Amino acid sequence: VSATSRMTARPHEEADITLKASHRAMWAMGDYDRFARATVWKLGPVLVEACGITRGQRVLDVAAGTGNVAIQAALTGASVVASDLTPEHFAAGRRGAAEAGVEVEWIEGDVEALPFDDATFDVVTSCFGAMFAPNHQSAADQLMRVCRPGGTIGLIAFTPEGIGGDFFAQLAPYLAPPPAESSSPLLWGDEAHVRNLLGTRVSSLTMTRQTYVESAPSPEEYCRLFMETFGPLVAIRASLADSPDRREELDRAFSSAIVRWNGGRGDGPVEIAYEYLLVVARRAPA
Ligand SMILES: C[S@@+](CC[C@H](N)C(=O)[O-])C[C@H]1O[C@@H](n2cnc3c(N)ncnc32)[C@H](O)[C@@H]1O
Repeated sequence: VSATSRMTARPHEEADITLKASHRAMWAMGDYDRFARATVWKLGPVLVEACGITRGQRVLDVAAGTGNVAIQAALTGASVVASDLTPEHFAAGRRGAAEAGVEVEWIEGDVEALPFDDATFDVVTSCFGAMFAPNHQSAADQLMRVCRPGGTIGLIAFTPEGIGGDFFAQLAPYLAPPPAESSSPLLWGDEAHVRNLLGTRVSSLTMTRQTYVESAPSPEEYCRLFMETFGPLVAIRASLADSPDRREELDRAFSSAIVRWNGGRGDGPVEIAYEYLLVVARRAPA
């Protein structure tokens, strides 16, 4: 946040700058690249295929993390921009793109104020990303704005009823209360909510509930992965450094939730099936 933007910001803008800075700091903690490669990496190809991304298209992946979608999209020959609130992810993203032999452009940006002109992209995607912006309508409006008329918007979000819902319920009591005007990220996994957000600006809208499985050799290793790498959990545990009892309470609750979620055999690897909503919308032609 530059000194100039602070001086010229109005009170609600000032509050948003502070909020987004705290979100950025939280997502920058841990090791998002290690986390993503062990969990959500396999959803990149799912979103790329669902959106029909092909060579020559201009693609924007929003809240791109370290590039699970962006790198996969670039492998098709598309021209890809990866944008995220947290530029701390970009070094790993650049490394991953280089290892995959593709070029991706990395640009810092808040999904509620995307730094791109109207109608710049043929396809706009976001995997478990845009859902975390507090103002859903402004995020939806921005995704729509930067997509060209007739272009495609593809989103993946946890459903409220799936294990992702329970996962975030475990963390919520330990996070700072969200601002009054913000909505739960899980609503992006609700069909009626998404239909309302995109409104009449789409010419087609398909929404399918699907699952993907996260696995680890044991419940203890799955738990350790999250505690070492998943920014929000790393941030919460750091904030409880002076409250060891609460931290232990969280750790116990999280460990027993993993046992509850585990669909694998008790003595074998952990297998946790997360339900998500896959949304593919076409922006109505001009
Ligand atoms: C769960 S991660 C998903 C990252 C990536 N899409 C993936 O599937 O691995 C959520 C991402 O959203 C980003 N994010 C959170 N709030 C954001 C906002 N307001 N604008 C843009 N990105 C945001 C975080 O920095 C983080 O990279």
